[in-house]
Parts: sequence; structure tokens; C-alpha cells
Amino acid sequence: MPFTIAMRTRVAIVGAGPAGMLLSHLLAADGVESLVIETRTEQYVLARIRAGILEHSSVELLRSVGLGRRLAAEGLEHHGIYLQYPGERRHLDFVDLVGRSVWVYGQTEVQKDLVAARRAGSQQVVYGVEDVLLHDVSTEKPFVTFTANGTPDRVDADVIVGCDGSFGPSRATIPDAVKQVWERTYPYSWLGVLADVAPSTDDLIYAWHPDGFALHSMRSASVSRLYLQVPNNTDVNSWSDERIWDALATRLGDGMDSWRLQTGAITERSVLPMRSYVQSPMRYGRLFLAGDAAHIVPPTGAKGLNLAIADVALLAPALVALVKKNEPGLADAYSRTALLRVWRCTHFSWWMTSMMHISGDAFDAQLQQSQLRWLFTSRAAAMGLAENYAGLPLTTG
Ligand code: FAD
Ligand code: PHB
Repeated sequence: MPFTIAMRTRVAIVGAGPAGMLLSHLLAADGVESLVIETRTEQYVLARIRAGILEHSSVELLRSVGLGRRLAAEGLEHHGIYLQYPGERRHLDFVDLVGRSVWVYGQTEVQKDLVAARRAGSQQVVYGVEDVLLHDVSTEKPFVTFTANGTPDRVDADVIVGCDGSFGPSRATIPDAVKQVWERTYPYSWLGVLADVAPSTDDLIYAWHPDGFALHSMRSASVSRLYLQVPNNTDVNSWSDERIWDALATRLGDGMDSWRLQTGAITERSVLPMRSYVQSPMRYGRLFLAGDAAHIVPPTGAKGLNLAIADVALLAPALVALVKKNEPGLADAYSRTALLRVWRCTHFSWWMTSMMHISGDAFDAQLQQSQLRWLFTSRAAAMGLAENYAGLPLTTG
């Protein structure tokens, strides 16, 4: 196939989500050139409503690489969360328990900061490409082919990094004989809504309820983000605004100790299925995987975005050493080291999910309430949750 433009870069990054864009930013800070290719348009990527919570170490990393200005001005620092079941709401203070806080700062805002930084650094991001294929990744001369505006293109690189999420081609490029996959699906989904109403709470509320789990989160002083457990394959149109607010009020305990849920205009709604997925290794020859391309967690512990950030924080120095100094040590250790943290977060997300969602089994419901009572009454138990939720240091598995 004739290629009208044959480009060369040090690191070809597939996918312009948070993992790909942050990796490109970290590499540039160390003088390593990269090129990012993305199937969606820039506007689409910027508008996607997804994660909302940044761990302590994610915030520190973003600050340390010049991405903390808007975060400091517009992000909301949270010292803990509320956990509840009917009749009882308890606050877990992470700062008191483990000395770390978390920040409410939407993924859309992180993405805006990354896009602005890439622009300011004149880094190349090619949006709207199609037919992306990875080639010769087990050799020293890997390359990526794609079409842009109907024209076939090719980019040659020292290394390719697959940051193309759960539906991209990178993870499938690792041969079946080499890779191992672990997967868990869950028998429920989340109906997520964004609403123009001031949050009815200072910290997030995670609520266990016989009707199903509910979560009260937020994006700003005037925008709330709320979730309801719903059956898989729920049609989003089967939930009217009134039905959504009624279910949220019941599950979140409207009226309990005179607490009230404020309602407002719903501006976005979607149904999110849940999955745990881990693929190993996260490196094959000159192909590295980072973020959702290698692992997916259910959103209950707010880990997905943070794991993507942790992966690229580990990968960037490894690639700098590899392509600038031909030192392979960190790159060789990347998959093993990253997977330690991935499995810790996979366990935590599974545990939070299993504890908070109604499975339909009466025995499960008793165990869940017993675990919640334990978290309410044992400082040791609460510290375990806080340590995982507020996030381990970037260097730990
Ligand atoms: P992504 O953000 O998925 O980015 C991958 C990028 O690759 C995308 O821009 C995609 O368009 C692009 N791409 C795909 N195929 C190709 C291709 N062939 N070529 C080039 N580019 C390609 N996590 C939480 O912690 N809390 C939440 O509430 C939460 N909600 C979520 C809701 C949804 C609908 C989804 C999908 C995820 C949610 N997550 C949440 C998870 C979190 O958003 C992800 O973990 C995070 O986006 C991972 O970043 P990433 O860069 O690895 O992947
Ligand atoms: C969110 O605000 O979108 C959010 C917060 C906490 C979670 C999941 C999602 O556990």
C-alpha cells in the first residue's frame, strides 16, 4: 500500500485518552518525542463524561508536571467518604485514618488540561484516524498504519504504546500463546446522571440499599453526579427523571436525620456495564500497554483513571531510559511492577463492588451489612478501605 506520509517518531502512542496524552506529556518533559493517534475527534474525546475522583498520588503527579493549576483552582479536595445502609450513615475520614485526601476533578477536566498542554508543547496528536494496525511489534522496528482523511499513513517508531482502551487493537496484537487474561462480569450496571443541582452532601455517599446501590458524587459546587444500580441491559429511556430522583431519594436516605436530597435538571444520562479484566503481560517486544488497554475495573472504587495515570507514571521513565540511553532495565520490569498495583486495585474495586451491590441473594445481603458494620466500628477495617481508596504511593504495588 502506498503511504502518502511516512512519519517517524520515538514513541508511537495509540489512543488520546488520559493514558496516551499524559504519557506524551511526560515523555516530552524528558525530551522524548512522541506521536499520538486517535480514532475519535478532539471534541468527542473532550466531551466524554467518565471518572471523577483523583487519588492523592495522581494529584501530586499532575501537579509535579505542570498540570495542577486548574486542578488547584477548580478541583474539590475531599477528606473522606460516607458509607451507609438504611438508617445509618458513617463518615470515613481518610486524612485522619491514613493521612491522605482525594480530589473531585472530572476526567473531562484532566483531558482538557492534557489537550492544552500538548498544544502548548506543539506535540502531534492526529485525531479522526481509521483502520489502525500495529506491525512488527516483536522486532526493533515496529510501525503503525492507519488512514487519515481516507489517505493511508504509516508511522515508524522505536516503541509503540497501546493506550487505546478496552476496544482498541493493541491488546489483541499480543499473541494468544503469550498472553493470559482474567475476567469477571457483574450481573448489574450503573445508570449515571449528571444534574444541574448543588451537591446535597460535602463528601461522596456510597449507599447500600435493598433496592440496589446508589452513589452521590459531584463535579462542582453546582453540578451533581449520581448513580443507581440497575439490571444489565437496562434501556436508559425506561427511566424518567421522576423515577430517577425517586429511586435516588429512597436509596440515599432522603429524610434520614433530616438530610434531604436536592433535585435539579438532568443534563446527561447513560448506562454503564461493569467488568473486571486484566491482561498479562503488559509488554510484548516493543509494544507496551497502559490504562484500560490492559485492565478494566468496575467504577465502585474510583480506580480506573488513577490506574491509567499510575501505569504511565511508571512507563515514562522506563521508555526514556530505553530510547535515549538504550538501558532496558526499567522497561523489562514494567509489566511485572505495573501488574502488582493493577491486581491491588482490581481486588479493591471488586471488593467495594461486591460489598455495595444487591445480588438478589439473602445470604450475600447479610454478609454485606456485616462488612459495613465492621467498617463503621473498627478503625483497622476503616484504615484498610481508606488506604486503598485514597491510593497507594505510585511506587507501590
Ligand atoms: P480511554 O479513556 O478509554 O482512552 C482510550 C482512547 O483510545 C480513546 O480516546 C479511544 O477513542 C481511543 N481508541 C480506541 N480505539 C482506537 C484505535 N483503534 N486507534 C486509536 N485510538 C483508539 N473510572 C472511574 O474511576 N470512575 C468512573 O466513574 C468511570 N466511569 C466510566 C464511564 C465509562 C463510560 C467508561 C468507558 C469508563 C469509565 N471509567 C471510570 C473508567 C475510566 O474512564 C478509564 O479507566 C480511563 O478513561 C482510562 O483511560 P485510558 O486512557 O486508558 O483509556
Ligand atoms: C464519579 O464521580 O463519577 C465517581 C465517583 C466515585 C466512584 C465512581 C464514580 O466510585
